[in-house]
Amino acid sequence: MIQKVNDLRRSFLEFFESKGHLALPSFPLVPQNDNSLLLINAGMAPLKPYFTGQEIPPRRRVCTCQKCIRTGDIDNVGKTARHLTFFEMLGNFSFGDYFKKEAIHWTWEYLTETLGLSPDRLYPSIYGEDEEAFAIWHDEIGIDADRITRFYRDPETGECDNFWEHGAGPCGPCSEVYYDRGEKYGCGKPTCGVGCDCDRYMEVWNDVFTQFDGDGKGNYTELEQKNIDTGMGLERLAVVMQEVDSVFDIDTMKAIRDAICRMANKTYEAGQN
Ligand code: ALA
Repeated sequence: MIQKVNDLRRSFLEFFESKGHLALPSFPLVPQNDNSLLLINAGMAPLKPYFTGQEIPPRRRVCTCQKCIRTGDIDNVGKTARHLTFFEMLGNFSFGDYFKKEAIHWTWEYLTETLGLSPDRLYPSIYGEDEEAFAIWHDEIGIDADRITRFYRDPETGECDNFWEHGAGPCGPCSEVYYDRGEKYGCGKPTCGVGCDCDRYMEVWNDVFTQFDGDGKGNYTELEQKNIDTGMGLERLAVVMQEVDSVFDIDTMKAIRDAICRMANKTYEAGQN
C-alpha cells in the first residue's frame, strides 16, 4: 500500500503521466503577473493563462504538485485535523482537452485502484444542478444516488461549496470526494454527514469543471474552451492512507515535530508547559 508522503506524491504524478499528462515542477509561492492573489493558493493559480487561452500550455494535459498557502484557512489551523498554513496540492489539469467524464473516471480509478481505498468509504458531492456530473457518478461509476450529495448556492450570500473560485479568473462548478474516517472522528450530531465541519468526512479530492471566467465581482462569462482543474491535498491524503489522527501526525510532519521536541526537550502532547 502506498502511504508515505513522498511515495504518494510520486504515485499521483506517475498515474497522470500514464494518462498522457506532462508533469511540471511546482511554481513559486509568490504569484507572477497575477494581482488578484497575494500567495499561490491552489494548483491552478499559476496556470490561469492556460485556462483562459491567453497562453499556449506546453501540453493540453498537465499535472503538478503545487506548494500552496491558503490565507483564508489560517484561523482553522490547530483547530481541525485537516487545515495547514503551507501545504502541497496534487492536481491534474486539462486545457480544452478532456472534461468531466475522464476527470471523474480517473479520480475514481486512482483512489480505488491505485491507492486501494474502499469505495464504501468514499462519497462524491456535486454542484446542485450539475446533472452531467451526477450521471457520471451514478450511471457510469455506479454510486448510489443517496451517497451523492448535492450542494446548492446559499440564497442569501450566493456562495456554494461546490463552485470553485478564488479571486478573478477561471472558475466553475465542482465535484468533491469525501472519505469517511469513521465515527470516532465525528462530532456526534445527528446531522453529521458529508459537508459537516467536523473531521469525520474529510474532503480529499476536488474536480473543478472550469468553464467560466469570473471578474471577482460575481460576473461570469463562458470560456471558449472547457477545462479541468483538480486538487487533492497531499497531507490530507496522507492522513487517510496512514490512518493517523491529523495532518500533524503524517510521516513528514512527525519528523519535523519530533526534531522540534528533541531540541526543546519536550514530549509531544504531554501538557501545555
Ligand atoms: N482549485 C481547486 C481547489 O483548490 C481544485 O480545490
